[in-house]
Formats: sequence, C-alpha cells, structure tokens
Amino acid sequence: MTELDLRGFRILPGYLDAGRQAALVSALRDVVAQAPMFAPVTPSGKAMSVRITSAGRYGWVPGRSGYGYARTHPQGQEWPPIPQILLEAWRDLVSTARDPECCLVNYYGAGARMGLHQDRDEADFNWPVLSVSLGDEGLLRIGNTARGGSTVSHWLQSGDVVVMGGPARLTYHGIDRIRFGSSSLLPKGGRLNLTCRVVD
Ligand code: SIN
Ligand code: FE2
Repeated sequence: MTELDLRGFRILPGYLDAGRQAALVSALRDVVAQAPMFAPVTPSGKAMSVRITSAGRYGWVPGRSGYGYARTHPQGQEWPPIPQILLEAWRDLVSTARDPECCLVNYYGAGARMGLHQDRDEADFNWPVLSVSLGDEGLLRIGNTARGGSTVSHWLQSGDVVVMGGPARLTYHGIDRIRFGSSSLLPKGGRLNLTCRVVD
C-alpha cells in the first residue's frame, strides 16, 4: 500500500478492503440504532450540514457552553461501544498502549460539508486522531496549524484512513464537498467519516 504524507497527515489509501468496509457499515448500523444521528447546531446557533453520533465512553456533542465531550447521548443513554474494526485499526496504526475513548460518526448527505477547523477538545494532543472514510468520496482540505495561509486538497475514498498526529495534530482541516453517489457502499448514498480520539 502506498502511503501519502500531506502536511504531516498520514494518508493510507484503501486501508480497509471492501469486506471490512461492509462489516464496519454493519457495525455502525448497531451504533446508530442505539445512538441515533442528530443534527448539531454550533454555539452561534447555526445548523451544521453533517449529522452526527458517537460511540465509546465519550461522545462529542454541541452543548450550551460550546462543543465538548459528554458521557451520554442527548437522549440520555450511554454511547454504544466503538466497533472492533476501528479498535483494530487504532492498535495497528496508532498505539496498543491505550484505546480511543470516542469515535465521532459524521454523516455527509448531498451538499454537506465541514468548514476548516482544529480538533482541540481533547486533553492531550500527543494522541493522534484516526479518521476513516466510508461511502462517497470527500474532498479533504488541509491548512496550517494557525488559521489562514495556503491549503492543499485531496479526495478521500471509501476505506481510506488518515492519521492526524505529531506536529499536524492541530492542523486546520475540513471537507469542502462530497461526490454524492460516487460509491455504492451506503444504500442511500452519502459519506461516513469516523474519527477515533483519546479524550481524557
Ligand atoms: C472532521 O474533521 O471531523 C471530519 C473529517 C472528515 O470528514 O474526513
Ligand atoms: Fe476534525
């Protein structure tokens, strides 16, 4: 497998083969059955175009005092366990010393995007964020560790994994758009992105 390094983001194209992608989708059906997707609203009151849920000890939720990690879904229940395939990827690519405590699930339907941002709600930035793409292609944009400056773009395909760690852990990134219908993995189309993080 050819690995790519884009501004310190380690990109592993096709890390998950078709069989594992399908198994992961099936595991995510169980996650969503226990923790339904919801539409997050930013602290400034703007609706985000992705829909989200989480698995693990913590989930990421927009709250009254901003974004953050919560032990329970907005409906009150605990989050379901992180699917085994993601734990295996984490242990293979990140660490066997500690498992992730949150897997944030983002669903991009037609027209969904995610603006440039840093992932900085975790306690220890020495732990990378591991990101898995499933379904339709998504255009990843990578900036710099400070706001502004030049950016580079890369189309992520189903099964690709990105490890955001080291000096790139706080690099700005976002998804400009997806190519709706470019993959047949998800019956209704769209793109799933799963990001695994150590939280505490
Ligand atoms: C994110 O940065 O939270 C999502 C990245 C992606 O969808 O690939
Ligand atoms: Fe992010």
